[in-house]
Amino acid sequence: MTVPHRDFLRSDTLTFNFRSFISVQFRGTVIQVLQDLVKDLTDNFGRMTVTLRLTKYKVRTMSKIVIRKVTIKDLDELQKIGRQTFYETFASGNTEENMSKYLEEAFSVARLTTELSDKNAEFYFATIDENVIGYLKINFGQSQTELKDDKAVEIERIYVLKEYHGKNVGQLLYDKALAIARQKNVDYVWLGVWEQNPRAINFYKKNGFVEFDKHIFKLGDDEQTDIMMKLTLKQTSDKNGSR
Ligand SMILES: CC(C)(COP(=O)(O)OP(=O)(O)OC[C@H]1O[C@@H](n2cnc3c(N)ncnc32)[C@H](O)[C@@H]1OP(=O)(O)O)[C@@H](O)C(=O)NCCC(=O)NCCS
Repeated sequence: MTVPHRDFLRSDTLTFNFRSFISVQFRGTVIQVLQDLVKDLTDNFGRMTVTLRLTKYKVRTMSKIVIRKVTIKDLDELQKIGRQTFYETFASGNTEENMSKYLEEAFSVARLTTELSDKNAEFYFATIDENVIGYLKINFGQSQTELKDDKAVEIERIYVLKEYHGKNVGQLLYDKALAIARQKNVDYVWLGVWEQNPRAINFYKKNGFVEFDKHIFKLGDDEQTDIMMKLTLKQTSDKNGSR
């Protein structure tokens, strides 16, 4: 595959994550480039050099990630991605019994129907070639799980299928949440994240979130501690969680 190298550094973004691949976003398409390229980029950081050298490397492409609003018609898909991603994320640290109970209740048709009909909550899917690979849930006003502050937006859920971690999908869902929060002109965005979920904590930290409190989240009969994190958008109100 040929990299469209001429415009690439001028108009697009490079994300260095120093794992096996780096993600390059080119005209909305995420391209995964071999990590060896990072060395060349750092050794020879000059636009011409990098541009020329790109042709030497293998790349693999990913179709465009599309973020779209979830409607009641998507209930089955939402239930499926919700259960799968929650299971992938938490099964190893929890009993099978607690997991089953939570998955049954939190993603029941009745619960999801209520949530999808709530004017103060919105869900978005991340899709590739129309396949759902992650989702976002944000809450406003009284539908926030704790603070219920009109000047805040809660990110209740950002969940991406494991095979798509580290590929910018979580970031695109997060960017959507932030755009909505800005559009609503709120003072801050907040969320709760399990203290034993370092990947998610790091993800929010690199997006500027800071810890401000802790709260208890019940998974089945197990009480777990969630770290509450917030991102201030405007310096005014200050108040004080879900997974
Ligand atoms: C949280 C989530 C959306 C983030 O998306 P992602 O694509 O994995 O995020 P990124 O790879 O961009 O960022 C994760 C960061 O944690 C780091 N990280 C990865 N694995 C880690 C680990 N085991 N321990 C600590 N940090 C880790 C990464 O290096 C990365 O930071 P960097 O970009 O500075 O290197 C995604 O991991 C996910 O869906 N997880 C499962 C669901 C979940 O936990 N949701 C949050 C519930 S509140």
